[in-house]
Amino acid sequence: MNKRLKTTLAGLLALGIGNYATIANADENASLPEKAVKYRQGAYFVIAWNFGAIGAMVKGEMPFDAKVLAEKADRVNVMTKMLIEGFEVKGSEKGYHTEAKPEVWKDWEKFKEGQTKFQEATAKLAEVAKTAASAEDVKAQFQDTAKLCKDCHENFKED
Ligand code: HEC
Repeated sequence: MNKRLKTTLAGLLALGIGNYATIANADENASLPEKAVKYRQGAYFVIAWNFGAIGAMVKGEMPFDAKVLAEKADRVNVMTKMLIEGFEVKGSEKGYHTEAKPEVWKDWEKFKEGQTKFQEATAKLAEVAKTAASAEDVKAQFQDTAKLCKDCHENFKED
């Protein structure tokens, strides 16, 4: 390898690492509990974005697109698997604009069961979405899943 190329590569590498460090430190002043609240809210936000699009298709507010539907249902399912760890961080029970009710930790087993059911329902949604020929095909599973959002929010999320 010639010297110039080596220097360039080293430079790029340093730049990459530099950028990565900047991203990692972007939240340098946030404590772990604060990050955990942001993390789980971010995950729910991503879920709502993608789930909302499925809902729009079901309601006929968005044209049916089999590929988009399958992709969005997949994303929702993947995200549901990331939620629980955001609630496991000690100190994230209150503050930092969390809307989680204390019941999340008081009734931990029930909350965890709700998250498991959520994963299962969205796995089924993703499965049905894969072969859907119209939005009608996912309607029932969409509604069952939407009911889980509502039930859990009633018990575990502030309005
Ligand atoms: C098993 C419980 C549970 C289920 C199921 C659930 N959520 Fe939530 N959700 C919560 C809790 C708890 C919070 C509050 C998180 C916080 O603020 O720390 C939340 C927060 C949210 C937020 C606010 C995120 C933000 O930006 O602060 C949105 C949006 C949301 N959920 C949408 C949904 C949708 C859509 C579904 C269903 C497809 C769903 N949730 C299913 C428990 C649940």
